[in-house]
Amino acid sequence: DLGDYPHYMLKEIYDQPQAVRNALGGRLLPSEATVRLAGLTELGGFHPSRIKILACGTSWHAGLVGKTYFEELARIPTEVEYASEFRYRNAVIEPDTLVIAMSQSGETADTLAGLRESKRRGATPLGLVNVVGSTIARECGRGIYLRAGVEFGVAATKSFTNQLVTLLMLSIHFGRQRGMSIRQGLELLNALEELPTLMERTLELDSKIHAISEEFADADNFLYIGRALEYPIALEGALKLKEVSYIHAEGLPAAELKHGPIALITPEMPIVVTATQSFIREKVASNVQEIRARGGRIIVIVSEENHEFDRLADHVIAIPTADDLISPILATVPTQFLAYHLAVLRGCDVDQPRNLAKSVTVE
Ligand code: F6R
Repeated sequence: DLGDYPHYMLKEIYDQPQAVRNALGGRLLPSEATVRLAGLTELGGFHPSRIKILACGTSWHAGLVGKTYFEELARIPTEVEYASEFRYRNAVIEPDTLVIAMSQSGETADTLAGLRESKRRGATPLGLVNVVGSTIARECGRGIYLRAGVEFGVAATKSFTNQLVTLLMLSIHFGRQRGMSIRQGLELLNALEELPTLMERTLELDSKIHAISEEFADADNFLYIGRALEYPIALEGALKLKEVSYIHAEGLPAAELKHGPIALITPEMPIVVTATQSFIREKVASNVQEIRARGGRIIVIVSEENHEFDRLADHVIAIPTADDLISPILATVPTQFLAYHLAVLRGCDVDQPRNLAKSVTVE
């Protein structure tokens, strides 16, 4: 039901605070400074010493965030693979590898085939799937549902957010088994609990981003850059823009610009910079200075308490301040609005972009 929204994509962007509440519902366990994920009881005494995440598209981007969460919080070496590439390599799977098959639809043919191949090689599978009872969920035999609700828009929005939230919960679970302190566990639970409210405040940026979009509606290209957890957010921002507005876009680690892509920067090139993580902000600022010097048009997404980019950027989109592990989740929302408004301004069919389908069941 669309309600008063003109498109499902917009409705689903606005659904996100509730989708996150649903993902967290009954799963936070402050008395033990951890999370309770029913699907994990099936794992019994299995303790992975490696994680491999198999996914495609937006889900693969979420997987990159998951890699950082698992390594940072649980010290579990993690690889993220395009399912379509994994399945045709003679991949090494050690017996204590947890393979996470991550898929909104639960029907993506490449992810399903990768899952089957990893099972043949002795991996222990875990599904992170949105659609209940879907093929990947069933074939994993155990998993954690994303609880994003039905996503009708072809462009993944709320399912991506819930993937990030679910990966963070899972890394708290493994982290608490491997030396994460009660204090850090509780800090993360508190941060997760605050997230829906912060996300509601982030949604208030809709009209501001609409106005910014008007200035860029004729652009032929966009670059998205970020570092650390915001590199995958840049990849996802670029994918969203390509999908719904048909504007060519590329996502890059901010520091990689100087190794080649900086040659693309002219006064015609808009660059979206995501710079909310405080630990790396100064480094991003120096990357932005390099862009400024070459005349690029800069849109920066930052935390509202930070003013480092006020003089460097053409537009500053200030989002609520949050923990460095959480702020990239919030920073996704402005990139969704940007893709949406640019697509609508260009007359594109945002809910049914050309050449795309909601489930990709061909290999
Ligand atoms: C982009 C998008 C696709 C999917 C990809 C995998 O907005 O939706 O890139 O993420 O086709 O789909 P799932 O997650 O259903 O396996």
